[in-house]
Amino acid sequence: MAKGNRVSSILFLSCATLLSITRAASFNVLSFGAKPDGRTDSTQPFLKAWASACRSIQPATVYVPRGRYLIKAAVFKGPCRNRITVKIDGTLVAPDNYWALGNSGYWLLFIQVSRLSVIGGTLDAKGAGFWACRQSGKNCPVGARSITFNWVNDGLISGLTSINSQLMHVVVNSCKDVKVQNVRIVAPDLSPNTDGIHVQGSTGVTVTGSSIKTGDDCISIGPGTRNLWMEKIQCGPGHGVSIGSLGRDFNEDGVQNVTLTNSVFTGADNGLRIKAWARPTTAFVSNINFRNIIMKNVDNPIIIDQNYCPNNQGCPRQTSGVKINQVTYQNIRGTSTTQVAVIFDCSPSNPCRGIRLHDIKLTYLNRKAQSFCKNIGGTTKGVIIPESCL
Ligand SMILES: *[C@@H]1O[C@H](CO)[C@@H](O)[C@H](O)[C@H]1NC(C)=O
Repeated sequence: MAKGNRVSSILFLSCATLLSITRAASFNVLSFGAKPDGRTDSTQPFLKAWASACRSIQPATVYVPRGRYLIKAAVFKGPCRNRITVKIDGTLVAPDNYWALGNSGYWLLFIQVSRLSVIGGTLDAKGAGFWACRQSGKNCPVGARSITFNWVNDGLISGLTSINSQLMHVVVNSCKDVKVQNVRIVAPDLSPNTDGIHVQGSTGVTVTGSSIKTGDDCISIGPGTRNLWMEKIQCGPGHGVSIGSLGRDFNEDGVQNVTLTNSVFTGADNGLRIKAWARPTTAFVSNINFRNIIMKNVDNPIIIDQNYCPNNQGCPRQTSGVKINQVTYQNIRGTSTTQVAVIFDCSPSNPCRGIRLHDIKLTYLNRKAQSFCKNIGGTTKGVIIPESCL
């Protein structure tokens, strides 16, 4: 009997050991001294919880319970030893004084991590003071993006709410295979440069099921973006889904294979926009698909602008070198608040090529909408309203 007991207790022990090895480790920020009172600086406790999770041999979770946590600029650095999840039930708030984040460029920066998930949570960057500073033309800091993934492979941002970022809300830069899903972004219509989601230098990013109301682009797509999929996006107010501005620099990478589908724009300044500087460049745009889109009172539902040159500085009498090729607009319907609902203003030195319009129906109040074409070639299929100028 005694022997049998020993055998079963050994068995039990080894099972327990096995369990603890395979079970994910959890690191609660409260155990590292974070205070959910919205006033105590919890930056160091968050970084310590991250460091422990990142060192874990088992898959690890940094857990942020309900409550408000005051967080200053923080860099969550990899590589980590295993899969890592940041599960947030609380709200992260930035300091009231915008200078506290303002010189860092980033508020929450995740860098060089593979298999990273950020789940849930609310980020309140309290951007209003920073915007007011910029609008008053005073001496202001450079500002901070709210959450950035830099060199993240196999990443996920899910169920996040971001409000009032100083600059861009969510940035995916130099990443591979990142999913952004069910995020909610909110900032006032007139807040400057508060893009909702910015993707750049990244391959295989998907953005789905997200609602974006902000003062700049809902989604902005920068150089070096490849295989981007966007679906079920609600945009507006905001400046639309924008490829560009591209071609600011001479040596610049292009954007290719981008799809936006099943999305709605409401009261946005632009819908589907491609924007290029009137400067020589190696940048290009190719294989872009806009499909099944509803426009509700959008100023410029469809626009290609290759003459971007804010304040007419830096591009005197130049034309855009960005080569725009194979862009399809299919099943785009709804209302424009301006008469020219479709604008294709392409470069005289690099005309747009392979533009396809397929079943477009955009109206302007109760009157006829119009199209504008310059330096463009393409084809149409199905019903096209306003009448095509291709
Ligand atoms: C284009 O991107 C999608 C993802 O959005 C991907 O599934 C597809 O393979 C890509 N096509 C090419 C030719 O790379």
